[in-house]
Amino acid sequence: MDFRRHRRLRQSAAIRNLVREHDWDVQHLVYPLFVQEGLEGREEIASMPNAYHHGLDSFRREVNELSELGVPAIILFGIPAHKDERSSSAYAEDGIVQQAVRAAKQENPDLVVMTDVCLCQYNPSGHCGVVRDGKIVNDESLEYIAQTALSHAAAGADMVAPSDMMDGRVQAIRRTLDAHGYTDVAILSYAVKYASAFYGPFREAAHSAPAFGDRRTYQMDPANVREALREATSDLEEGADVLMVKPGLAYLDVTRALREAFPTPIATYNVSAEYAMVKAAAERGWIDERAVVDEILTAFRRAGADFILTYHAKDAARWRREEAGR
Ligand code: PBG
Repeated sequence: MDFRRHRRLRQSAAIRNLVREHDWDVQHLVYPLFVQEGLEGREEIASMPNAYHHGLDSFRREVNELSELGVPAIILFGIPAHKDERSSSAYAEDGIVQQAVRAAKQENPDLVVMTDVCLCQYNPSGHCGVVRDGKIVNDESLEYIAQTALSHAAAGADMVAPSDMMDGRVQAIRRTLDAHGYTDVAILSYAVKYASAFYGPFREAAHSAPAFGDRRTYQMDPANVREALREATSDLEEGADVLMVKPGLAYLDVTRALREAFPTPIATYNVSAEYAMVKAAAERGWIDERAVVDEILTAFRRAGADFILTYHAKDAARWRREEAGR
């Protein structure tokens, strides 16, 4: 025979395990949570089955469940009771995210608490920065973004994650945090965030769809990958500790490109529509949800992600526990 027998190393599960190149574990997962001001209990998000808006009481229960399952980290999104032009609920000391951070740390001080830093949920335009004459103005937005990050740090957040895509925000946040003594609070930058249709269910969930226009003047063109390296380079220079690629599945090549270009930790965001598509197909019995999620998480790791933000985190942790119990 003058061909190679690749199948030798696939003969049994034990052999396959020996030669497996990539794996994910619960320790690599971050669970996104939506906290809503003034809500009692929780409400399921229509386009995201088994994901919820949580009131603070329900949020505390959720934190305990996650801790029990060994999920190491959460990222928080707030839905304020009140929106205004200055996005004041974004950086209010008793804002919903600030309250949730303190509650999470009370329930479990070891849980890594990350916060999404953005203005789109907090102002009537639904844009991620300040709007003047129909334009999203960059430099004026930085002050609000930095104040928001500062208020999260003051509440006890471990990592702040700016998702607004204004230029210079990582620098503005780093300077503000340092000036107030929060030198140990890390910045997880949504460095490479595309203007994507895959955020649809999230915008419904967070009530953050833009009231006019779209986000193409600040989020990236899905066609570009060299631009991703430019964005990542500036965020690193400005002080980002971790670089994030978003969305995840349609952008695995971008995660790979960053992995090869930088020694920095990389995260990927398995976004709302990626979750919704899996859930919808699974509900119809068209796919095996567990196997598909396992494959998706493995793919992120293979592409080079260190950790993964995913709405599947809780289920995945439960499945891992079931497998271990067998
Ligand atoms: C806020 C923000 C968005 C997401 C995370 N932070 C929406 C957007 O930019 O329009 C998307 C998350 C998801 O789809 O799961 N700027």
